[in-house]
Amino acid sequence: MRICRSRQDMRDCVASWRADRQGVVLVPTMGGLHDGHLTLVARARDWLDRRGGGRVVTSIFVNPMQFDRKTDLANYPRDEDDDLAQLRAVGCDAVFLPPVDEIYRPGAQTVVEVTTLSRILMGRLRPGHFRGVSTVVTKLFNIVEPDAATFGEKDYQQLTLIRQMVADLDIPVEIIAVPTVREADGLAMSSRNRRLTPPDRAAATVLSRALDRAGTMVAAGAGVTTLRREVTRILTAEPRADVQSVDIRDAADLSRVTAIDRPVVVLLAVRFGEVLLIDQRVIHL
Ligand code: PAJ
Repeated sequence: MRICRSRQDMRDCVASWRADRQGVVLVPTMGGLHDGHLTLVARARDWLDRRGGGRVVTSIFVNPMQFDRKTDLANYPRDEDDDLAQLRAVGCDAVFLPPVDEIYRPGAQTVVEVTTLSRILMGRLRPGHFRGVSTVVTKLFNIVEPDAATFGEKDYQQLTLIRQMVADLDIPVEIIAVPTVREADGLAMSSRNRRLTPPDRAAATVLSRALDRAGTMVAAGAGVTTLRREVTRILTAEPRADVQSVDIRDAADLSRVTAIDRPVVVLLAVRFGEVLLIDQRVIHL
């Protein structure tokens, strides 16, 4: 597995593969890897295998621009050796591990902002967060120049925003959406889960239970208001859960819906102590 720490190293590595006409898929991450991330690497490999093979690049970059609080940035889990061991084990071909000053150079003036999608939902709670995401992902795309890139449905607003950005700016990268990878009891995998206390960890299964119930209710013909009320009721019945938001939106563009007459996504944000967990479920009719 190649380890590239500079833009030039990364470009040279991809150029050598391109000379052999190999496809390239990028898996952008911030490290602290778990099975959710490794599933993205596996889906990247599947995508390439269906097209005659190619190379998978994972980027590990804790992007300061997307953190609205300095303490979150400082506390973000970092374990390079463990991340590299996991990536080697799943057969990743290269890792892009740039230091901050390799990505953000003094004097930069340009940012990428997806106007509406960056300001709604989680964007209202975290001003500037999605501008940081769209800017760094554009930079990673420009450095690696992949054919495709994987993003998890776990961060549904991020996935929707990246799709919008790629379409709006004619970026020639196919976006591969990967369904949320869960623990055996249904909790969506996240590097934040390890910060939950044991009782909060046990209580956190309420998110996936509420989403399961949402799926059954839509199948039984429930409307938006009833659905939101019932999901909120299930979440608030868990005393350790501090419910931040329950949203039911159009699955394609996250606009508001008044009736469930097209695919919708149920988006949850719930706090357990200091830890904010998010989860989502797309519901097709
Ligand atoms: P990070 O939180 O490290 O997540 C990297 C990718 O893994 C994202 O696409 C995320 O949706 C996906 N992912 C995380 N947990 C998952 C799970 N349980 N199932 C499926 N996919 C999962 O998201 C970021 O980093 C950053 O914002 C980034 C896109 C790298 C830009 O800095």
